[in-house]
Order: sequence, then C-alpha cells, then structure tokens
Amino acid sequence: MRTAEIKRRFLAHFEANGHAVVPSAPLPAIEDPNLLFINAGMVQFVPFFLGQRTPPYERAASVQKCLRTPDIDEVGKTSRHGTFFQMNGNFSFGDYFKERAIPLAWELSTKPVERGGFGMDPERIWATVYLDDDEAIEIWKKTGLPAERIVRRGKKDNFWSMGIPGPAGPCSELYFDRGPQYGPEGGPEVDEDRYLEFWNLVFMQYEITNVVSKEVFDIVGELPAKNIDTGMGLERIASIMQGVDNLYEIDEVRPILARAAELTGKRYGAQSGRAASQSHPDDVRLRVIADHVRTALMLIGDGVTPSNEGRGYVLRRIMRRAVRAMRLLGWQEGPSLPELLPVARDCMAPSYPELAEDFDRISQYAYGEEEAFLTTLRSGTTILDTAISQTRSAGGGSLSGAKAFQLHDTYGFPIDLTLEIAAEHGLDVDQAGFRRLMAEQRARGKADAQARKTGHADLSAYRGVLDDGGPTHFTGYSEVTRESTVRALLSRAGGELRAAGEGDEVELVLDHTPFYAEGGGQQPDQGTVTVGGGELEVYDVQQVVPGLIVHRARVLRGEVRPGESAYASIDVTRRRAISRAHTATHLVHQTMREFLGESATQAGSLNAPGRLRFDFNTPGAVPFSVLNDVEQQVNEVLLSDLEVRAFVTSLDEARRLGAMALFGEKYGDEVRVVEVGDYARELCGGTHAARSGQLGLVKILSEASIGSGVRRVEALVGIDAFSYLAREHVLVSRLAELFRVPNEQVAERVEQTVGQLRDAEKELEKLRAQLVLGGAAALAAQAKELRGVAFVGTEAPEGAAGNDVRTLAQEIRGKVDPARPAVVAVAARANGKASLVVAVNPAARQRGLAAADLVKGALSGRGGGNADLAQGGGLPANEAANLLLAVEKAVAES
Ligand code: ALA
Repeated sequence: MRTAEIKRRFLAHFEANGHAVVPSAPLPAIEDPNLLFINAGMVQFVPFFLGQRTPPYERAASVQKCLRTPDIDEVGKTSRHGTFFQMNGNFSFGDYFKERAIPLAWELSTKPVERGGFGMDPERIWATVYLDDDEAIEIWKKTGLPAERIVRRGKKDNFWSMGIPGPAGPCSELYFDRGPQYGPEGGPEVDEDRYLEFWNLVFMQYEITNVVSKEVFDIVGELPAKNIDTGMGLERIASIMQGVDNLYEIDEVRPILARAAELTGKRYGAQSGRAASQSHPDDVRLRVIADHVRTALMLIGDGVTPSNEGRGYVLRRIMRRAVRAMRLLGWQEGPSLPELLPVARDCMAPSYPELAEDFDRISQYAYGEEEAFLTTLRSGTTILDTAISQTRSAGGGSLSGAKAFQLHDTYGFPIDLTLEIAAEHGLDVDQAGFRRLMAEQRARGKADAQARKTGHADLSAYRGVLDDGGPTHFTGYSEVTRESTVRALLSRAGGELRAAGEGDEVELVLDHTPFYAEGGGQQPDQGTVTVGGGELEVYDVQQVVPGLIVHRARVLRGEVRPGESAYASIDVTRRRAISRAHTATHLVHQTMREFLGESATQAGSLNAPGRLRFDFNTPGAVPFSVLNDVEQQVNEVLLSDLEVRAFVTSLDEARRLGAMALFGEKYGDEVRVVEVGDYARELCGGTHAARSGQLGLVKILSEASIGSGVRRVEALVGIDAFSYLAREHVLVSRLAELFRVPNEQVAERVEQTVGQLRDAEKELEKLRAQLVLGGAAALAAQAKELRGVAFVGTEAPEGAAGNDVRTLAQEIRGKVDPARPAVVAVAARANGKASLVVAVNPAARQRGLAAADLVKGALSGRGGGNADLAQGGGLPANEAANLLLAVEKAVAES
C-alpha cells in the first residue's frame, strides 16, 4: 500500500467517525517561541488543549509535517529515526477520551484491507499503557487484545509531553510484531526493533512545567478538559504495510536512495546483514542522503532558507550532511543535488503538489547552498592538505586544535571532515584543543553580544532597578517631551550612583520616557533631559533587559540625583527622519513581496535618520528593472498620501487582517499593528510618519547579496533622497559640460570616448613594436664574426616591454642566414634594472652554444630558459652594456 493511500485511508476513517480533516501546519513553529519546528501532530492544537482558545470542532484529524533533529546522528543507523516525517493523528478536544480512542485505533489497524483498513493481524499487535492506568487496560481487553500482550511501562516510555512546558498525559502505544527475523520474542520491553511502535495514543489531561527530562517535570494541574492526541508515524506504518525493513525503503524515500546509489556506483544492502543496526557504512550514508535530501526539500518548501542561525542553520546542517555523505561515497562530479532533489520532489509531490509548483524557487536555494558548500570544501581542503603535510614533515602525529579551529571558524570547514581527512593521512586531531577554542569563542561571543547591548556584561544592577520600580513606561508614540522622575543613575561600569556632575557619563533610568530604545531595526532617539539645575545630553537609548529603558547620557552642566523630577525631550528632527525611514521600510517590504512573491520576507532592517537598509530572503539577484518598478510604485504610494495608523489587537485578529509578521519573532497575545492605508500592514513596535506623503521621496541606491539567499537594498528617504538626486544631477551636468553634449547624451559620449581611447592604445602598442623591431634587419647585417659565429649585441630602445625585447632578439636571429651559427644578445633597461635576452640559432647550438648557459654566465647564475632562448635580469641599469660584453666574451672564448 502506497504511503499516499495510507494517508487517505487514515483521514477517511476518522472523517467517517465525525472528525474534521485539518491541513498540516507549515514546518516552522512560528507561534511557539520554544520550538523551532513542529515536532508532533498536536502542536497546532496546543491552545485548544490548554483552554486558551475554543476549537471550531470537537474532533479533528490531520497528517502533520514534522521535523525532529535531536537524534540526527542516529539517522540511517536504525530503522526508525528520520528527520522529516509525517504524523497521522486524531484529536478530541474534551469530546471522547480513552474509551473511544482505543477502539478507533484498533478498528483501523485490524480492519481488512479490502474494507478500507490496514488489515494487520490482531495476533501481532501489542499495547503498552502507563503504570497505573487500569482503565486503559480494561478498555484494551474489552476491545479484543488479550492481557498477555498488554504491558505496563513507566514515565520514560508512557507519559508523553512535548519536552517543553505545555499539555501532557499518560499514553498507550501500539506495537506490531515484525517477526523472529528481527529479534527475540517477548514484546516491546525486550526488543523495539522486532516490536515496532506505530501508534501513540496520548490521554491529554495535565499541564506540565519545569521540564528537565522525560521523567522529571512538575505538574501544574489538570487541563480544563480531558483530551485525546494520537500520533501514528506515517513512515513507520508505511514500512510495515510495504513489508520493508525501515523507513528509508518506503515508496516516498527509496527512489532518492536508489538514485544516490546509482550515482555513486554503490549497491545498497550489498554488504549488510538484514538488521539495520549492523549496516555497512555505505548503506548508512545512502539512507542519510535519502532522508536529508527529502527533509531539505520539505523545509525549503515551507519557507526556510539556509543561514547561520535558528531554523536556517538546521537546514544548512542537514544539507551539508547530505552533500558530505555523497562525497564519502566517492561522488566527485561536483553538485549532486541537481540529481537528487528532483527525485525527492517526484516522491513527495503526489501528497504535496505545491512542491512541484514551487520547485524553481526551492531548487535555486538548494543548488546555491550546495555550490557554496563545495567552494568551502575546496578551499578548506587545500588549507588542510598543507597543514597535514607540514605536520608530517615536522614529524608530528597530530594536527593542532588551533588549525582545526581556524578551518572551522574562518573557512566554515566542518570538524568531522577535518577528523576524517586527517585520519586518511594517518593523523590525529587535537580535539580537546579544538573544543577548548570553540568554548572560548562561544564565551567571547556571548560576552560581546551582552556588552554591545548593555555596555557591560553584568545585568544584575539593571535587574535590581527593574525589580524595585517595574518597567519603564514608553510614551514616545504620542509625545516628544515628558515630565518624569529620575528612577536611578548608573555608572557605565554598572554600579548605582547617588549623584553625577558635569562631564560624567551615566546611564539614566526614568519612570516615563518619550525616548525610543533601539529595537526592531530602528535606531534610538537622542535628545536632552533637564533635571533641576542640571542638563544631560542623551546619545543612546537601549532596552537593556526586557522592560527597562536606559538612557546613555553625558552631564552637560549641573548635578543630577535619583528621585529628582526631570523633563525629557527628544531631538524631533532626528526622530522624524528615522520614522520616515521606518515607514519607507514597510512600503519597500510590501512592494518587494508584490513583485518577487510572498517568499521575499524580511530578514533584517535598519532604520536610521533619512536612510534605510532592508534585508530579505530571495534566491538570486533582483533585476534592475524590478528595482526600478519597486521604487516607482513606492513613490506612487507616497503621492497617494495614505494615513499611517497603529493599533493594538490580538495576534489572531492581526493574522486575520493579513498583517505581515516576521519569521521566528516572538509575539505576545497582544500585538501592535502598523498599517499604511490599505497598502501595507505589519506587526511593528516602531515609530512612523503620520502620512505616507511626509516621506517626500524614496530613492533605492543599491541591491546586493549578503549571503546565500539573502539580498540587501539600501535606500534614502526624504530630504536625503532629494540631496542625493541633486548631487547626481550636478555631476551629470558637469560631465555634460566637459564633453560638450546635452545631459542625456553623456553616457553615449563616454562610451564613444572610451572606445576611441582603447583603439588609440592598441595603435600605439603596434607602433612601438614596429619601432623596436624595425631595426632588426640592420642589426643582423652588422653582426660581428667571432670564431665563425655571427654575434649581435645590442640594447633595446628605452622603455621596450619584456615581450618586445624577446621578440627583437628572435627577429634579429631570424634575419641571419640560417646556415651561419648566430648568437643574439639584447639588453634592456627598465625601472632602474638591466635585463638580458639571448637567442641562439640551431647552427650555433650545434657548436655547443646554449642561450640559458650564456645568460646564466653573464648574470652569475640568475636567469632561466633553454638552449634556444633565455632571459634574466635584476642587475642595476648601468650594467646593461657589461651584460652584452660578457656574452660576447663567452662566445669569443667558446
Ligand atoms: N503527540 C504524540 C506523539 O507525538 C501523539 O507521539
């Protein structure tokens, strides 16, 4: 039974039993800040279980795309571990409980195939239940499972949670006995390879927190209702139904494996026994490739792109593992994904047709990433090879940790690859040293990040201030000045101050402030705070710990003390210029998406006074014409003078309104939405212009790549955009004046002039060569007769190029009657140095004269060439004549 058919039957069974069929959520777990990826079918239903939202249905069924990477090193080695997988699940939200969940599962599993079930032999099914769950045991017995095939197990196996705070509960798992060829008898306690778990029924009834491990956590209490969450690993049930050994051999995966085997000339299963755990490394690698290529396809399909952090890093790592496994199997032909990814697409498209439609985009990312990795591998391998030969010639047996670290840090060369290549050359790697350097770097990175944000790495002083007085109230959305009170004064070193005087650098905390702290890509406000008789100049504002805004300031005059009343006033011109840039960023973002598609999502931004930088995901460069169109459309929106409105609403409502949220951002239940008319709507905490017309003008300056799949545009806004255009205009006018043409003909004229210049240079070159060579015949005619050898010694005209000198020597030699032995020496002076070229004809060579010997003789060993033609140099320019004499003498004495 094909996997797609298993899926269909699963959903049909539950639909017939009153369940709503719900589509899979995308792989990135956007709504849960604790999860990178959806890792179970129930993740999209968590708010229903917790009673935070009312479900629109009481029963649901789905086939959820999932990703689990904690066991990534097990992939390919066991029959059960995959990274991407699909989970069939049925769910009850306070509707039925155990009494219905167990028979529903039993029925589908054992119903004959011709009647729409999976037709499993009831005698081969086992079930496990949580230790004290007598109720489940009774239901199992009533359903038809004899007591001897029901096993009680502890928390580790039969209490299910997401591994993070959330809903949880005891569970009951179904196992299928695959037969004695897979292992000993005795049920799942004895052998989980022979008894393969295929369905987990979770009785969701608790909320847990403080999760330390599968067995150590705290129960917060009972959930509002008793729920059901089940998960049937689709790939596992497919491996049972298709009678194959493991999940890499099912119809949705095997073709990828087969293609990889074909490409690398390996025969899958050729060396291994039946049990997957005893597999040959080649087989493991083939499975890794099949699994990872499919996973990469699904991840990119769901909008993840390779990067160095978060979800993008998981993808990058998975792709690199696949590429490496190909290489370890001996694949040397360059990129392998163009051979493998289309196979994965064909495997998955029957269930996910969008993969085929979107394949151009998906493959661009995938192939680009592989190219980049191959480049890394090439440069890293060269460096590593050098290090290996140095280590060996120094008699060492171990590559230093510092080298391994450098390769990793500077070249992105994976450590396991270093280990492997070193081992191939019989060398160890100082792994302890490598790990130490990595740990040091991580510690540095952490401290740096902290120091950048807070000015100093110790947060305890800030936490103290926050605990004492609660969060700072930001009033800057609606005001630019504010009466307030000095809550605390801190020194830049982190200690609380009782007073600060003129010239002191301090960190000032107010209870209310109109100053915007740097965040969401928006630069901080600047301005002044007056306190009693004192005045401070604020140059930076940071939210150092969530909720606490700190003003970095210099005391300009007077004294400042905590508790005094203060008057805070921001630099309005700067704020307005920043706000205009921020609104412009939203417009550019929205317009880019219109032109490049939904996948052009924001990856970072900077909103500074009068200018913006906007990073976004898209494969390949954005054509110049598209940039022009984007710019034009943005400026049209400015002319429409749309109102900019900000409001706070629920996350659900914001989504319903279609507000753009950023991948991977954490949002609370209440979010702030900023909309520019009906044109752009985005979740945003920043400050904005009041109307789009206030932006005046937006000028896009450049577009460039800043990493695989990420592009950056920079733009100017308002008066800065105008000044830029004005300067450009002046420049063009100046050029037009110089070239004496109207402005619009400047480009054409420059092109013409450059062309003329190039032609003139070529002509000059030709003339010079003629000049140098022109005298060749005359010089040959004046050859001296030295013991039967025609000798010409001459200096090349001043400034002759190296090439010309050589050609001149050969020209002269060619003008001498070939029957006569001839030696030609041409000396040249250039850049204060003398050089020498010697040409010898065949007749002279027969007499034992060789050009290389003559040059080396004249230059005391310096120089190179052969018997026919040789050259050398490096002596002071005034030696040129002596060089000729030296050759003449050598010929005369030969
Ligand atoms: N949520 C349960 C699991 O993932 C069904 O196993």
